[in-house]
Amino acid sequence: MSSPETPIRIGIVGTGFIARAHAEAYRRVRDLGTGRPVELASVASRRLDNARSFADRHGIRDAMDDWRGLVGADVDLVDVCTPNDSHVEIAGAAIDAGHDVVCEKPLGRDATEARGLADRVEASTRRLFCVFNYRFVPAVALIAELVRSGEFGDLHGFRFDYSQDWGLGEGTGWKFDGVAAGSGSVGDLGSHAFDLLRALVGPIDWISARTTTVAPGRSVDDAFVSLVTTVGGVSGTVSSSRVVPGAKNRLALEITGTRGAVSWNLERLNEITVVRETPGGFERTTRLVTRSADPSIDRWWPEGHVLGWEAAMFGNLAAVIETLSGRADWWALPPADHRDGLAAALAVDATLASAADATAGAATVAPVGGES
Ligand SMILES: NC(=O)c1ccc[n+]([C@@H]2O[C@H](COP(=O)([O-])OP(=O)(O)OC[C@H]3O[C@@H](n4cnc5c(N)ncnc54)[C@H](O)[C@@H]3O)[C@@H](O)[C@H]2O)c1
Repeated sequence: MSSPETPIRIGIVGTGFIARAHAEAYRRVRDLGTGRPVELASVASRRLDNARSFADRHGIRDAMDDWRGLVGADVDLVDVCTPNDSHVEIAGAAIDAGHDVVCEKPLGRDATEARGLADRVEASTRRLFCVFNYRFVPAVALIAELVRSGEFGDLHGFRFDYSQDWGLGEGTGWKFDGVAAGSGSVGDLGSHAFDLLRALVGPIDWISARTTTVAPGRSVDDAFVSLVTTVGGVSGTVSSSRVVPGAKNRLALEITGTRGAVSWNLERLNEITVVRETPGGFERTTRLVTRSADPSIDRWWPEGHVLGWEAAMFGNLAAVIETLSGRADWWALPPADHRDGLAAALAVDATLASAADATAGAATVAPVGGES
């Protein structure tokens, strides 16, 4: 057992967009001193010059040109920030070599890969955390607390949608390649939506879905829509798209119950809209989630000093470090682990399987006549 003062040495794999977000979050975790001390020990990329300049920019000690140099070496936590097709290989090797792991979503390209990795974690003494960072937006944490307290009565519906627009046009890179990514918007954006639905409303047990590919010749879906039910019998819709003009990073949710409702949207991440039953009828209020009593706000600024997208990544990685330090009870939702990563992958697979069967869960609508 490591002493509370022994630093957790972190090795990051990848130097792209999300690796940058992780490196910045760990720096904040280190500077705030939450949980055990954190040391940014190394970064691996495929090219040494990239790894070196990333290391210099983010205050990381060592740089290397092969992730295999990290595994079995002097790091405690291996953080996988590479494309989806390498998650299982790198995270699995790290678990087998005795490291704890942070792995970006989706856990694997499909549920078979995710289950294989989850089984390796179960057979080990190590922990794996799958990055579903939106659990750590303070407004989302407040929604979790309100739902849990019964504020909205018995839940009976939900709408979760994650829309972006960067898939319009040609679209190049591994995220449009089915072999590298596994799927398109379903695994990329839908996995976040399914994770939040599971965390806020409950486990999912049924999905009927349709996918759409707008761009000619693209090997992955651009969008999906689905009807979903939870084990608790709540039904609603989940959808995502990378081709909604004007949608930049719009993860939007609404949860409805017998006594009220709540909604939130990542593009206005500091606000929630709550509908409550009052003697005069239902009343809707929108407010900033920046009060000192709001979840996790005391780690930030005075009331009204709003947060940005990176706040959720900080919260997620701080919660990982605190969990590894045995002090995790602070957060409204726990950091997602291998089981949560597998649950999201199973929902993604069910979505794709349903969409591949055009008759699944469908009743046809008779034509009126004279319409084409
Ligand atoms: N949680 C989130 O909000 C969020 C947001 C964006 C991306 N992601 C996830 O993060 C992962 C990476 O996405 P990204 O947007 O950063 O992609 P990216 O293309 O910007 O970066 C990928 C990086 O991995 C490196 N790389 C590729 N193969 C490698 C290998 N074998 N060894 C070492 N480095 C390798 C590339 O050189 C690049 O630096 C994906 O799984 C994606 O789903 C999560």
